[in-house]
Amino acid sequence: MSSTQKGKMAGTDIRPATGKLGVLLPGMGAVATTFIAGVEAVRRGHAKPIGSLTQMGTIRLGKRTEGRSPKVSDFVPLASLDDLVFAGWDIFEDNAYESAAHAGVLTNEDLAKEKAFLETIRPMRGVFEPSYVKKLHGTYVKSGKSKMDLAEQLMADIDGFKKANGLDRAVAVWCGSTEVYKQASDVHSSLAKFEKGLATSDENIAPSAIYAYACLKSGVPYANGAPNLSVDFPAMQELARQAGMPICGKDYKTGQTLMKTILAPGFKARYLGVEGWYSTNILGNRDGEVLDDPDSFKSKEVSKKGVLDYILQADLYPELYKDLCHVVRINYYPPRGDNKEGWDNIDIFGWLGYKMQIKIDFLCRDSILAAPIVLDLALFMDLAQRSGMHGIQEWLSFYFKSPMTAPGLYPEHDLFIQLMKLKNTLRHLRGEELITHLGTEYYD
Ligand SMILES: NC(=O)c1ccc[n+]([C@@H]2O[C@H](COP(=O)([O-])OP(=O)(O)OC[C@H]3O[C@@H](n4cnc5c(N)ncnc54)[C@H](O)[C@@H]3O)[C@@H](O)[C@H]2O)c1
Repeated sequence: MSSTQKGKMAGTDIRPATGKLGVLLPGMGAVATTFIAGVEAVRRGHAKPIGSLTQMGTIRLGKRTEGRSPKVSDFVPLASLDDLVFAGWDIFEDNAYESAAHAGVLTNEDLAKEKAFLETIRPMRGVFEPSYVKKLHGTYVKSGKSKMDLAEQLMADIDGFKKANGLDRAVAVWCGSTEVYKQASDVHSSLAKFEKGLATSDENIAPSAIYAYACLKSGVPYANGAPNLSVDFPAMQELARQAGMPICGKDYKTGQTLMKTILAPGFKARYLGVEGWYSTNILGNRDGEVLDDPDSFKSKEVSKKGVLDYILQADLYPELYKDLCHVVRINYYPPRGDNKEGWDNIDIFGWLGYKMQIKIDFLCRDSILAAPIVLDLALFMDLAQRSGMHGIQEWLSFYFKSPMTAPGLYPEHDLFIQLMKLKNTLRHLRGEELITHLGTEYYD
């Protein structure tokens, strides 16, 4: 455990990443297929894994004078891309190639190169309830006597997938649609109540929570890429503890929210006031269509709006942020497909209260920003499991709009603090000194 190297502390015993790692994707739409196609393209040398911290990132170790900055993937034992095996569920029968072609994120030319591989990935029948995603009418869904029966069918799917592919381990990353907004209720308050609710098909248990339950019960860590409750309630946290499984969420931090968590910490760092932040988007993919339903949009809105409140801390800086007017809109506009356009108008004020404006027009590609997050989450959740970390993985807040935290703890939204937290967790795992950026030792 301990090492003789100066600055080294006891690290954690991490089981090696032997054998194949299954990546289970509930929801095989734009994000999931862009992720799978991208991993295959990288494996075959057709493209580079841009945007992925696990593939491109480095980590500084020790003092600045030591010159030690290994690649993250050389520093911690991550599964290799060659060892990833994919499977998923959907409520439509399209294979990964057909679904990717429908999503229209990657060009036909790029998709054609990975076509043979993508066609081999066929979704398993999904667990679906139309009242949770009102804009979709799934045709490829499981039926069962109860929600517990459906969970058991999912567990049988997971078991079958692991056996058929001789898998050592698996992780799940939710890439399904955003469900209608729900708050945790009595059935979510303990594992016993939740399991009873599954047996009696309690209407407050969403399909996404049935997947999460089945995964954790099957020894599969679960990351939640949508704002759905899924694993963000006491019953699931109890199960994660009991099963020794890591969980994390919610809602991938891409596009506009990514920009917010880059800019807002800067305004606060320079004590610039923010009077208003108006954000609007147009997008035309299936996600946009789902979010056109006010109840699904409500889940997104809650997830998107919390960010500024936590970063700007109006309670500490009332003169600067108390009256902030924060508005978020998403408009479904089919001509744009996955190529979203997000506008931000930011009304700030400086010295003596003089007003200024900042305009951002981000012509982004949603799934291109989300796919590397899915990859990093899959690899880091597997690392967490092999390191004996279970329950909420707050160090992965970096990837989420609405990071899960221990009850009573406010989430950290500042991208740069999140990155430091992530890298310090990796250093901690390997017994390396944490980096505080104090730096007095260079001047002693
Ligand atoms: N792309 C981004 O930048 C981004 C950012 C944050 C969050 N997200 C979230 O990620 C999720 C996926 O986004 P997307 O653009 O791929 O959407 P998408 O509509 O292309 O894909 C979602 C897929 O999930 C399927 N689905 C819905 N309910 C299901 C269920 N119960 N079981 C199995 N499959 C189900 C749908 O049929 C569809 O194929 C959405 O919830 C979205 O809000 C995306």
